Amino acid sequence: MMDVQIDSKYYIELEEKYGAHNYHPLPVVLEKGRGVYVWDVEGKKYLDCLSAYSAVNQGHCHPKITETLAQQAHKLTLTSRAFYNNVLGEYEKFMTQLFGYDKLLPMNTGAEGVETAIKLARKWGYLKKGIPPNQAQILVCNKNFHGRTTTIISFSSDPTAKTNFGPFTPGFIEVPYNNIHSLENVLKNHHSTIAALLIEPIQGEAGVIVPDEGYLKNAYELCKKYNVLFIADEIQTGLGRTGKLLACDYENVHPDILILGKALGGGMLPVSAVLANDDIMLCIQPGEHGSTFGGNPLACKVAITSVQVIIEEHLSENAMKMGEMFREGLKAIQQKTDLIETVRGKGLLNAIVINEKKGVTAWDICLKFAENGLLAKPTHGNIIRLAPPLIINEEQINEALHIIEKSILPIK
Ligand SMILES: Cc1ncc(COP(=O)(O)O)c(C=O)c1O
Repeated sequence: MMDVQIDSKYYIELEEKYGAHNYHPLPVVLEKGRGVYVWDVEGKKYLDCLSAYSAVNQGHCHPKITETLAQQAHKLTLTSRAFYNNVLGEYEKFMTQLFGYDKLLPMNTGAEGVETAIKLARKWGYLKKGIPPNQAQILVCNKNFHGRTTTIISFSSDPTAKTNFGPFTPGFIEVPYNNIHSLENVLKNHHSTIAALLIEPIQGEAGVIVPDEGYLKNAYELCKKYNVLFIADEIQTGLGRTGKLLACDYENVHPDILILGKALGGGMLPVSAVLANDDIMLCIQPGEHGSTFGGNPLACKVAITSVQVIIEEHLSENAMKMGEMFREGLKAIQQKTDLIETVRGKGLLNAIVINEKKGVTAWDICLKFAENGLLAKPTHGNIIRLAPPLIINEEQINEALHIIEKSILPIK
């Protein structure tokens, strides 16, 4: 029998050969995770600065979440919504009370949460606002990222996400992000057919674009003025990531529709949720929307524990404190090199912008980071997002800064 060497190369080749090529991963094959660290199949340890795009806010394999998952997995996992289960109601009560809404609609992936919010806003537009049939419009922002379904890519401004995937879903108007005057102009001219504004409080995938202070509040107030729903996509920014439970909390904005995902599943399961009050949520009636897995008892139990961990371990507060320290350290490194153009972010959702004129790409730098024991991934060309799990401590922030400095400074 021929001996096959089971190493990183082996697993990478397997994926290349048998998997669709819809991702371009860094050449690192992970097999184990704990807290802020992951290990590859050769046993090399890395500090995770991506956290599965903020889905692992609680850290890898959090013992409490793992325990909840295992316990419920032995009891009951899936019933579909054809019947009631004894966990969904408790989960809905917990979440609506925590976030201040009447109702929750459970889904699985983030994109499904966004699709749900779009349907809900359209239905509200027809039933409550009186928009004529099939004329509802939703405002979206330039450079948004809300997922990958056909409808969601219809209003993407990224050609890679869109090209050759048409025809697209109509009913969306793009406005520039962080530009209150443009928003007001569109609202003034088209408010009678606009049902909602769909917005990321910080644009994550676009490269951690933090809007000016006051923008969200002003946008929310304009929405109120023109009877337009304010939908916050907090799938990436929510659940402690930016230093508050929600990024909207910074401006005391209570969205009409709130979408959560990613860390809601504690890095274990895809769990998303849409929250709204009765006047909006009850626009959807039995049979009009749903999902086989949405609201399953396993996901609901995991979600309760995942959110409890964020609260009990003060992860929002930690993200705020560690985030400040991280950015300060990154700015100190920036002083020593002209490779880093910008350092920006909020809480532990941060990014550095690489000056690619120097002939080194963000990809090259991420490879260097990996070689030195830190994982991060470029987003939109020359931007590197740095978003470790929210349980990170001071010592680990210093470790991350040390690796970043060691990787970047020798590059001339
Ligand atoms: C703001 C935002 N919305 C929606 C999504 C889509 O979530 P999912 O990949 O779970 O469908 C993402 C994923 O990165 C996101 O960052």
